[in-house]
Order: sequence, then structure tokens, then C-alpha cells
Amino acid sequence: MTTYLSERAKNGLKGRLHVPGDKSISHRCLLLAAKADGTSTIRGLSEGHDVAHTLDAIEAFGAEVDRFATGAIRVRGGSPSEPQTVIDVGNSGTGIRLLSGWAAGVDGVTVLVGDKSIARRPMDRVAEPLRQMGARIDGREGGRFPPLVVRGGSLHGIEYRVPVPSAQVKGAVLLAGISADGATTVLEDATTRIHTEELLAQCGADISVSPGRVTVRRSVLSPLDIDVPGDPSQAAFWIVAACVTPGSDLTVERVYTGVARAGFLEVLRRMGADIQVTDEDPANSTSTIRARYSPLTSTRVDGTEVPTLIDEIPVLAVAAALADGETVFADASELKVKESDRIASTVAALSSIGGTAEPRDDGLVVWGSGGKPLAGGAVDAAGDHRIAMAMAVAGMASASRVSIEGWDSVMTSYPDFEQDQRRCA
Ligand code: S3P
Repeated sequence: MTTYLSERAKNGLKGRLHVPGDKSISHRCLLLAAKADGTSTIRGLSEGHDVAHTLDAIEAFGAEVDRFATGAIRVRGGSPSEPQTVIDVGNSGTGIRLLSGWAAGVDGVTVLVGDKSIARRPMDRVAEPLRQMGARIDGREGGRFPPLVVRGGSLHGIEYRVPVPSAQVKGAVLLAGISADGATTVLEDATTRIHTEELLAQCGADISVSPGRVTVRRSVLSPLDIDVPGDPSQAAFWIVAACVTPGSDLTVERVYTGVARAGFLEVLRRMGADIQVTDEDPANSTSTIRARYSPLTSTRVDGTEVPTLIDEIPVLAVAAALADGETVFADASELKVKESDRIASTVAALSSIGGTAEPRDDGLVVWGSGGKPLAGGAVDAAGDHRIAMAMAVAGMASASRVSIEGWDSVMTSYPDFEQDQRRCA
């Protein structure tokens, strides 16, 4: 395990940054390109290990991939066939859940394995609807946990109401739906990220979308030609860092700010952050975001807002730890089944650097320091990239440095984080 030292940014964070390509979009681009009839070109793919595992996976299903020095890739897809090897998703919950739905539409047996953290991620949420569609899914504890065995082939459409707000479940069912007889409809009560729907439409799939309802039918997909926009979940680290570190004036360019991904900006604004959103490009759902330091006040985050910022809660908790007053994150029990139990790991990490936070059944409460820098110290990232990077942000605004054990987890999503920190802090 590697340790990372995040130093106080004495003069604040400055300059302009590009964050890596969006991870959620990257996984989906690869899976759709591997089914599309023809050659897709994808530029700006997320460079982390999570997406690299999905790239290996589509090659195991027979997609032909060319990688260029520019970072662009070309994927020749069309007719995925039963893989001859076990598919390793590494640490990626999105990878294993989307691949389950995608593999359900492929004739044959697919075995999906991952790391220690993947072994505790619930899979019944995807196994259940995929079984209803005619796939056979086995796994530990009756298919509740990986490794998973997916026997795909002849599927039929279903109407399925997603029981927990989850774009991964919605995505898995829709990806199976493009290979199923009849219509596949997914209903959701809270809006979750819409990348699967957006990209299926871009590939010419037979899809219709209305509020809370998406229907797909068997489709031949056309190839993609896409520049993956910057990942808002990665941009959030820099934006919060600028908001809480005196002297900061930082701009992050070409960030995806479409449906259900930019909730963290609204929360920071409610807290009194100085944030400007410009260069809005509605065709690609991207914007430029400028953040400057200003004192923050507490807020409450709950209800349907939660799925729009679920991955940003660890770093928003850092903002809350430096704000004035009590911030509550509620209706967020999904945090318990992320790469770590993020209720426990966020509270533990904040507490070890001088913050004050307590776990709740469905979230956490953070009592802010009123702008006084946290002490700093040593934290355990709990094998979770977002806890590691949230603590690096805390380090930039702490009295003394924060030492983060388990920094290697950051390789799953943002291998250049350290370099970007040196560039702007
Ligand atoms: C994702 C959906 C969310 C999110 C994850 C990425 C996706 O998970 O936390 O990081 O790409 O669909 P859930 O679907 O479990 O909410």
C-alpha cells in the first residue's frame, strides 16, 4: 500500500485544469462500441484502472481495439462471443453491474470476478431483473455477491421498477434490453444519471424516454464517434479544494454538467460558495466551472438530491467540516455499499484529521470548524479512491499535512491526481 502526503496549499489553488474523461460515460462507450456494427472512435476515455478492466473485457468478448498515442481508441465491434477467459472487473462496481446486463445479451457463459471490495458489493439488484428477462445468474449466496456467472442468450423484455435509485441497475437492464425480444421498460422514482439512455440514442437504438420511464427494443447499434467530457465527480475535488482554501481561484474546463451529475454545485452554492458556470455547451452537456475561496455555511442534503451527488458526499463532507454549523447528509444509505462503507470511512477519516462527524443510519452529520483549518494527520483511505482524494483535498486546507494510507486506490479513477495537485496547489 502506498502513502501520499497532501500538503497545505499556502497560496490557494490557481490556474486551469482538465479532469479525466468521465468514468460512467467511458464504461458505457466501450460496451456500446463493442456491440455496435462497425468501428467506433472514442477520445478522452477515463484513464483509470476501472475503465481499463472494461476495455480488457470487451476484447475478451471479441472486440478489436486499437490504442493510439493520443489516448484515442478505435473499437471494431459487432458480434460479441462467449469469452474464453474469466472477466476481471478489478474494483469497479459500475463495470461488473453493466457487464452483467451486457453479457446477458451474449450467447454463452460469462464469469465475472473482481477484488476484495467487489466481493461485498450487492449484485441481487441486477441479478433479479436479468433473471426476469430470461438470463441465468449465479453467484455467491444465491447470486447476491460476486463472483457471478451469467448465462446469457434468449432474453425477453420486461417492465421493471428499480427499487433503489441506481443508474447501474437501469443501465444493466437497458443494455440487456437491446438484445431482448419485445420492449424493455425501466421505471425510476428518482432521476439518476442518464448516460446509458443518451449513448443508446446516439448509437441509433430504438429508445424512448419520458420522465421516470425509459423503453428500449432490440436494436442494431451504429458506431460512436465521441469526445468523452470531463468527469464532474473528479472536478468536484478541485472545486471543493478551491472553495475551502484561502487565496484560491481555479477553473476546470469542459466538465459534464448534464442530468443528475452536477448536484454538488447546487449544494456548494447553498453553502455560500463562489462558483461560476460558463461556456455551457448544451449539445455535449459540458460547462466550464470557476471556483474561488469564500467562507461556507452548513446545509442539509437529502431526498431526490442524493442520487445527483452520491459520489461527491465524501468531498462535500470535507467542505462541511470547514463550514460554519451542522451539515446533515440523509437518505444516503447507499453510501454503505460503495467501494467502502462511505458512512463509516468518511466519518473515520474526518475524525482522524481533527474534524467532527458522526454516522447516522442513512448518512452522516458533520459539525464545521467555522473556517478554522483542520489539524491534519494520518488517515486510512479504506481502499476507496474517493475517500483518498477527499482527504487529499482536506490536506490542501489543513494546518499541517494529511498523510493518506492506501493512495494506490486512486489509480482506479484518477492516476494523474498527484500531478494535477502539483500543477494548481
Ligand atoms: C454509476 C452510478 C452510481 C455511482 C457510480 C457510477 C454509474 O452508482 O455511485 O459511481 O455509472 O451508473 P449506483 O447506480 O449504485 O447508484
